Amino acid sequence: MQSVTDIYIYPIKSTKGIPLRQALVEEKGLKDDRRYMLVDPEGKFITGRTHPQLTQVNIEFSKKGLYLSAPKQPSFYIQPEQFSQQQLDVEIWDDTLQAQHCNKDCDQWFTDFLGEPCKLVYFSENTSRCVKNKQTQVSFADGYPLLLINQSSVDHLNTLLETPVTALNFRPNILIKGDLPFIEDNWARIKIGEVEFEVSKPCSRCNFTNVDPKTGVADIEQPLKTLAQFRFYEGDIDFGQNLIPLNEGMIRSGDQVQVLQSHQPRVYQSMLAIEEDDKKAVQLHFANSNIEATGDNQSTLLDQAEQAGVNIPYSCRGGKCGRCKTKLLSGEVKVLNNQGLFENEIAEGYILACSAIPETDISIEH
Ligand code: FES
Repeated sequence: MQSVTDIYIYPIKSTKGIPLRQALVEEKGLKDDRRYMLVDPEGKFITGRTHPQLTQVNIEFSKKGLYLSAPKQPSFYIQPEQFSQQQLDVEIWDDTLQAQHCNKDCDQWFTDFLGEPCKLVYFSENTSRCVKNKQTQVSFADGYPLLLINQSSVDHLNTLLETPVTALNFRPNILIKGDLPFIEDNWARIKIGEVEFEVSKPCSRCNFTNVDPKTGVADIEQPLKTLAQFRFYEGDIDFGQNLIPLNEGMIRSGDQVQVLQSHQPRVYQSMLAIEEDDKKAVQLHFANSNIEATGDNQSTLLDQAEQAGVNIPYSCRGGKCGRCKTKLLSGEVKVLNNQGLFENEIAEGYILACSAIPETDISIEH
């Protein structure tokens, strides 16, 4: 029988997790989870994908507010009673919403820590954000209120890795010890403690999983590359399950996971096996710089552009943020994911360099 071993919250998106013995599950996630987020001067969200040092910011709850400490930084308190009343337009993935600006002191602390301008915003009572295609509210988590990770799945992954990772690489809210690796893929609805959850969708992973939570340093390829060899499904590399709570209530470590409903899991493939089948060389033309390079139909356009010395800006490297948007002028690509594009952009011929693989000779506007 599987049970909960650990519960974590991350009060500020991408910072270090706080382990809890018990937690209140609210509609938008665990109480106090991802209620704060950093944004750049344009209001775009900042995460550990591009700023892995954020994982080294330690947070404690205290009577004076949230107590922050981080390497080479003076400690600091976030005090909600001193927040500005200003609402800022912010962007997180595809969502644009209003969030409360904390204050200039908070901005300064994080600006000093990251070495670039940023602002801290709060998910206030006036802030609203829904899970995609659902009415359920979600905080500043990536897309779903909670994430469940099975330690047995992490253990299985570690049998394939030279350097083991921990469950914290995957930033779980609920860590369970399952009877079998990936048994969670079969669940459609579960109950933990007082709360029923819809097991909504496997979590598609990005390079943030390569960030060592202890050091904040990102490995150049692992564990994502190994996961791609056996957890690849229609352009996504999945690990863990996103949960939507169906009621509010308490969960505790030690609670059993009751499976109320099961379903057929996704059938996973190896991204590499698919690639090896039809390897061929293609010509890449980067129109703005007029650079030509020989590439292949194996890896993403973003990887191949970098190898050719062409800089395409990126953030998530997972087809979600839209930062690596580029226009396909000629040729064909295999689209792995285009979540980060609007319909009209797709119609106009834009593609995401991180999530497109050339199939023929191509020319792109970059
Ligand atoms: S880097 Fe985010 S969509 Fe490509």
